[in-house]
Parts: sequence; C-alpha cells; structure tokens
Amino acid sequence: MKSPIAVVVLAAGAGTRMKSALPKVLHPVAGQPMLAHVLASVARLKPAKVVGVVAPKQPRVVAAFAPHVTVVQEKPLGTGNAVKAALPALSGHAGPVLVVYGDSPLITTATLRRLLDAWSRANAAVGVLGFTARDPSPYGRLIVKNGKLQKIVESKEANAEEKAIDFVNSGVMCLDSELIGWLLGAIRNDNAKGEFYLTDVVEFARDRGLSAIAVAGDEAEFQGINSRAELAAAERAFQQRLRAAAMLAGVTMLDPDTVWLSADTRLAADVTIGPNVRFGPGVSVAANVRINGFCDIEGARIGKGAIIGPFARIRPGSDVAEDVHIGNFVELKATRIGRGAKANHLAYLGDSDIGAASNIGAGTIAVNYDGYGKHRTVIGAEAFIGSNSALVAPIRIGKGANVTAGSVITEDVPAGALAFGRARQTTKKGRAGPLRAKLKARAAAAKRRQGK
Ligand code: UD1
Ligand code: MG
Repeated sequence: MKSPIAVVVLAAGAGTRMKSALPKVLHPVAGQPMLAHVLASVARLKPAKVVGVVAPKQPRVVAAFAPHVTVVQEKPLGTGNAVKAALPALSGHAGPVLVVYGDSPLITTATLRRLLDAWSRANAAVGVLGFTARDPSPYGRLIVKNGKLQKIVESKEANAEEKAIDFVNSGVMCLDSELIGWLLGAIRNDNAKGEFYLTDVVEFARDRGLSAIAVAGDEAEFQGINSRAELAAAERAFQQRLRAAAMLAGVTMLDPDTVWLSADTRLAADVTIGPNVRFGPGVSVAANVRINGFCDIEGARIGKGAIIGPFARIRPGSDVAEDVHIGNFVELKATRIGRGAKANHLAYLGDSDIGAASNIGAGTIAVNYDGYGKHRTVIGAEAFIGSNSALVAPIRIGKGANVTAGSVITEDVPAGALAFGRARQTTKKGRAGPLRAKLKARAAAAKRRQGK
C-alpha cells in the first residue's frame, strides 16, 4: 500500500443505549476513551489525513479528535450520510479512504492493513472487512459469489435466505477517493430505516462493472459498544490483550485475570505482579520490581528493584526510585521517594520529597492539607522518622535527622538533629500494684450496689 491513506472515523451516532451524559466514544476502555484506541490503531497506518464525523454540539468529542479535523453531521441520517459529510474535508486527497467506527475500540492496525492491501491488490472500488458472526442478526449480511462481494443486505431488508448467512459486515470499509463522491451520491434512503446506508455503495459499484471484495477478520476485533454491558465486554477483551502482551514481554503475573492494566502501562521485563493489582493511566515500572497483591497505582514511575505492597496505593505525580520499599497500607500522592528509602507500613505521604535511604516509620502522616492549601514535606537523605509521627507541612527535616516516635513536628528539623515533639513520660516506681488494688475494690463496690 503505497499511496497516502485517508481515514474517516464515524462518531455521530446518538449512543442512547449508554444512558449517559458522557458521549459514548469518550467512555474509557483500559484507561483511555474508546475513541483514543481507534485513533491509535489508525495512526499506525501513518495516514495522510484523519477526519472525525461528529454530531452537532459535541465539543468534547471534537477535542478528543484533536489534532485531527472533524466535520459535523447535522442529523443522524445513516452511515452513508455520515461519510458524505466528511467529503469536503477529503478534497485533494488521492488514494484509499478507510471508514472505521469510533465505537469499536478493538480493531487492530494489522487487520486494517490487511484490508487496504487486499483492496489495493484486487484493484477494487470497495473493500469491506467481514467476519463470521456467532449471532449475525444485528449485522448487514455480505453476499459473496465467486469470491467477489455482490452486495450488503441490512438485517431489516434481508429475506429468509439472506438472513441465514452468517458472514457479516464489520462496518470497516475501504473506498477509492476518485469514486467515493460518485458512489455516495447514488445512495437513496428508500429502505426499512429511512437511512442512507453506506453499505449500498457495494451493489451500485457492482452494477456498474466495478469490483468489490470482502476480507475476513476475527469477530473479537469488531465488537462495537452500544451499552454498558458491551462496554464491560470490550474492557474484558482489551485487558486480555494487554495482559498477554505484558507476559510475552517478560512480566510475571501470579493471577493475570485479576491484573488491570491501562493501554499506556509500561512494564519492563522481570516485573512480578501479584493478584488484584490495578494500574491506572500513566504508570511505568522498571525491571525487577515486585508489586505484591492488592495495589492501586496511577500516574507514577517505579524504579528498578522496588518492592511495592501488598495493599499499597500510589497516586498520580509519584516517583519511586530504585530499591525503595513501600509496604502495606502506605499511600503516596505527588511524592518523590529516593533510592533505597523505606515506608513499610501504614503511612500517608502526600506532596512529599523523601531522601534516599530514609526510613519512614509506621503511622507517619505528612500533614499536607490545612483545609485551604496543600503544603510540602521535604525529608533529607538517611533521615529516620519514628512511628506515628505527624509532619505538619510545610516542613523540612534535614539529612540524617531523627524524629522520635509519636512526635508532632511543626518546626523544621536541621540535618543531624534529634527532634522530640511529644509529652515527656513520667514513671512511678512500685505504683502499679496499689493502682490495681484500688481499681479492683472500686469494681467490687459497684457490683454490691447493683445487688449482684
Ligand atoms: C452498520 C452497518 C451494518 C454493519 C454494522 C456493524 C450500515 C447501513 N450498516 O449497522 O452493515 O453490520 O454497522 O456494526 O452501514 N453513525 C454516524 N452517523 C449516522 C449513523 C451512524 O456517525 O447517521 C455511526 C455510529 O456512531 C456508529 C456507526 O456509524 O459508530 C454505525 O452505526 P450504527 O447505527 O451502529 O449502524 P448499524 O445499524 O449497527
Ligand atoms: Mg451498530
């Protein structure tokens, strides 16, 4: 396929069955709007032009297409009408025009390329990606004779014989830029739905001696999303794909079905992931990291050899250096934690900068919020923060400083200093026994009063 490719992405459908205020194509799959997956598959074809077809007043959908151009289909008059709306934006383009749906995020670049190549080799006017459907009833049937596509019959127009066909139209179509305007101009809407069917171009082209082909693909790639249940099914399928790719690249997953990835999750070789771990968008994990079960990580970088979890939560803006240990019930938010530092149990470290080889005791809280603004906690290298310390930000703890357990630290602690921020203990020798005797006598008197 040498000539430049243009792609039209249809996204003007109403999406009513989602029952959502969010436009359908913006619902996320694997941490990204479903449209982003379609655009990513398309981008790998290196198209000369991508045109989005959107409904009126959909600024968020228009934004999701950027930097690509969009055109507005004023009324949802059918797929043929939608592609027609894109024609002005295609002027000057010479080469294949590929039509894809914005609500079918599982389509792969390889399959699109197969269609383009076959279409080009066959010198066809129209090429269609088809598949054998388990349940063909919602789809247009592909009528193929002697290896040539004759026509596409929509379900509502199909007779009994045609209904029995299970080779169906995925909706992905390839057309010649020189013929597309003429073909679309021929489409009428005198059919069961009163719509301009894009699929009608096949029969029109054939009737005029041009050829059309159908290329078979895998049903799994053509799952469209119309409802929340189909959204969940697409998510499942996408996750399977991401997990398989990660394992192929050298990641160990103890229970892959319970690891949830984002499309942009970057996992190096020899990362080991325990059960029930979720990666939100924007995570990269270096080699030899171990992420134990039940962790939730988003918008973070994890350096080589770190050990995370179980039950750790790492929130956006965090940067965990090499060989750091983040243990159970530790939450990081917008926090940098230096090489070899440890926060092994029960801590909240928000808006913090923690020096290398520091030790953060159990129960440490970076008190980052005063009800109005967020403030930073800066801890130098090799510092020791005793258990159950509250570090009231903005605050700085110097290199090698030691904050004693149970301290509430409200003033900066210089490097090497020992800081106490707690009440002084008093110890009274030999007084435990008399106290117990007194408490016992008091309890007995109370029972007597109640007549027991
Ligand atoms: C369409 C095909 C059918 C195919 C099926 C695959 C036609 C006439 N039928 O049917 O052969 O088997 O997809 O799923 O093409 N859209 C617009 N503007 C419109 C109408 C639709 O942008 O006016 C967009 C939708 O947002 C969607 C896509 O086009 O992304 C398909 O529309 P849909 O209504 O789902 O078409 P189907 O009736 O399912
Ligand atoms: Mg549909």
